[in-house]
Amino acid sequence: MRKLVVSYARNVIRSMAGSVWFEPMLATLYPTPMCNLRCDYCHDFGAHRNAEFRGQELSFDKMARVIDMLAADCHVLYFTGGEPTLREDLVDLARRARKAGIRYLAMNTNALLLRDRADLLSELDNVVISLDSLEVGRRDSALAGRPKEIAKLLDGVRWAAAEQKARGFTLTVTAVVSPGMVADARKVRDFCFEIGAQFSAQHLNVERLPSPELHRDPEFRGFIHELIADKRAGRDVSGSELYLGGVCDLSPYRCTPTAAPHVDWMGRLAYPCRERPDHIWVDMLRAGSYRAALAEAARLHGPPPGDCHRCGARCYLEISLLVRHPGALARETIGYVARQVSRRGMRVLYP
Ligand SMILES: C[S@@+](CC[C@H](N)C(=O)[O-])C[C@H]1O[C@@H](n2cnc3c(N)ncnc32)[C@H](O)[C@@H]1O
Ligand code: SF4
Ligand code: SF4
Repeated sequence: MRKLVVSYARNVIRSMAGSVWFEPMLATLYPTPMCNLRCDYCHDFGAHRNAEFRGQELSFDKMARVIDMLAADCHVLYFTGGEPTLREDLVDLARRARKAGIRYLAMNTNALLLRDRADLLSELDNVVISLDSLEVGRRDSALAGRPKEIAKLLDGVRWAAAEQKARGFTLTVTAVVSPGMVADARKVRDFCFEIGAQFSAQHLNVERLPSPELHRDPEFRGFIHELIADKRAGRDVSGSELYLGGVCDLSPYRCTPTAAPHVDWMGRLAYPCRERPDHIWVDMLRAGSYRAALAEAARLHGPPPGDCHRCGARCYLEISLLVRHPGALARETIGYVARQVSRRGMRVLYP
């Protein structure tokens, strides 16, 4: 993790110096846009949209080259999508990422196919399963009408929790909190604590902005305060206190989008981020490297914004807050290491 520490230290200095350019600390890759669910809040993907994307996915060799380029500049990689497990060669891409130098590899999944991809788990440091409700699973109306499928999904989550130690990964379960569904998120949290998984809450975004209805809901604010209290009591809640506080209050912050580059299934870098309506895409394979793609993007679009805080998207917000508030990281790191040692033993410190 030396590279991550060095990049973080450089970013803190750049932030203090007023720069808008940051070293990449967490790269997010969308191996596929295909999906096997149709969550009603999902802006970009869903089974009903698969036909739109057919034929766009990069081949293994091209995707592997994109991974190599990202790994040259960043050692933390997050697979998301679409549903990443729909890509048959994902385990080979994960192995390629390791070979290319990725030190921390995570994947976000709806878990419907997780047991069929068991070999993948051993390649990952963090498996992030999305689960909004114990009753309906996800906000997908077709899934909500298939109780057997929901029971299978919950079994899959329990199974993944039980596999953590043997396969050496951490399981996080993440719930999108929607207006009127705070109680559902609370039950997901309690389920996580029961099975030994980390719990993460994401606020609902509507049209790429935090749901105003959710933020008016005192129950949501109460829940976030409960999560902060859980964290202080040593329970495994994902996200720094700064992040949770930020989600609760929607307080302004200064985003550092280049610290969290996003690359899609065609190998295109989103610039300055994936969330701004005026973002552009630059082909990394054509550019030849992450840095060349970034330079090309800046030439076309101008420098990244220095004070944007419009979306509150988790990956961007968390990193921005830690870069802007280095003191908070020390507290979070100590808490994280203590939790990992209690879960996975001292080999976390002496691998
Ligand atoms: C787009 S999904 C891709 C990975 C995988 N298909 C899954 O659902 O876990 C990534 C994450 O974004 C979350 N998400 C999707 N739409 C959202 C929205 N409108 N607001 C907040 N989170 C959202 C999902 O719940 C999931 O945790
Ligand atoms: S499973 Fe993930 S990618 Fe698919 S529709 Fe739901 S949120 Fe979107
Ligand atoms: S706050 Fe959101 S929209 Fe603004 S730069 Fe960051 S990721 Fe992009």
